[in-house]
Amino acid sequence: MTDLRGKIALVSGASRGIGEAAARALDAAGAQVILSGRTTSDLERVAAELTHSPVVITADLSVAGAGSALAIDVLTVVDGVDIVVNNAGIPMRRMPEQLREQDVDLVYAINVRALLMLTIGLGESMKSRGGGSVINISSVAGIRGPAGRAAYAATKGAVDALTRALASDWGPAGIRVNSIAPGLIATDIWEESRQTIPGLIEDMEGQIALKRWGFSDDIADVILFFAGNDSRYVTGETLVVDGGLAKVGASAKPQLLPEMIAE
Ligand SMILES: NC(=O)c1ccc[n+]([C@@H]2O[C@H](COP(=O)([O-])OP(=O)(O)OC[C@H]3O[C@@H](n4cnc5c(N)ncnc54)[C@H](OP(=O)(O)O)[C@@H]3O)[C@@H](O)[C@H]2O)c1
Repeated sequence: MTDLRGKIALVSGASRGIGEAAARALDAAGAQVILSGRTTSDLERVAAELTHSPVVITADLSVAGAGSALAIDVLTVVDGVDIVVNNAGIPMRRMPEQLREQDVDLVYAINVRALLMLTIGLGESMKSRGGGSVINISSVAGIRGPAGRAAYAATKGAVDALTRALASDWGPAGIRVNSIAPGLIATDIWEESRQTIPGLIEDMEGQIALKRWGFSDDIADVILFFAGNDSRYVTGETLVVDGGLAKVGASAKPQLLPEMIAE
C-alpha cells in the first residue's frame, strides 16, 4: 500500500476522468489533494467525497499566464506541494487540412504551456520540502502516429520531452519527474469520437492486446506508484499504460495464414 500521509498533491483536471480517479486514489493513500479545473461544481462534487481536507481551485489553463497564476494560488493555500499530477488536457482531432493555427495554439496552451509553467511555479516549494514527484500525463499518441492527431500528438511528445529535461534539472534537488502515456481510457474525452465515428470504439479495442479499453483507475494506480516511495529511483521515464496498444502487434482478428491454423 502506498502511504502518502502528510503529503500534499495538486491534480489538474481533477473534475472527471483520469484526474478524478487520481484525486480519489491520492486521498485514499493519505495525501491532502488540491483539485483544479475549470468547473467549480464538478470539482466540489469530487472533493466532497475526499477525506483529507481537499481544496478546490478553479482555473482555465488555456489562458496566457494561467499556469503560473495557478501555482501562486496553490501557494496561498498551502506552504508547498510534494506531488504534482499534470493531467488537464484536451484532444484535438483534425485532419491536417482542417487544422487551423488557433487549434494548434489552444492545444499547446493547455497541454504544454500551462503544464510547464505550473510545474515551474511549484518547483521551489517542492525543493523546500526536500523533493517531490511530478507526474505528467502524456499519451501513446505522442509515441505512435495516429491519424487526425498531428497537433495533439505533438503536444504529448513535447510533454515526454520536457519530462526528461526537468528530470535532469531537478534530480539534484530530489524532485523526480516522470510521465505516463495512457492508451485508450474510457472517459468523456472520447465522447465526440464515439458519436461521430461509427465502429471506432470496437475497432480500436481490437488493437489492444488485453482486448479491453482502460479505466481511469488503471492510470490512477500508476500515478500512485510514481507518487510514492516504490518509484524512488525512477525519474525521466515515460511509462506506457495501454494494455498493449503502442508496441504490441495485436489486431482485431488473428493474423494467421491458412496453413498455420491448427486442424
Ligand atoms: N482518455 C484517454 O483515452 C486518454 C489517453 C491518453 C491520454 N489522455 C490524457 O489524459 C488526461 C486526462 O484525460 P481524460 O480522458 O480524463 O479527459 P476528460 O475526462 O475530458 O477530463 C479532462 C480534464 O481536464 C480539465 N480541463 C480541460 N480543459 C481545461 C482547461 N482549459 N483548463 C483547466 N482544466 C481543463 C477538465 O475539466 P473542466 O472541463 O471542468 O475544465 C477535466 O477535469 C489528458 O491530458 C489527456 O490528453 C487521455
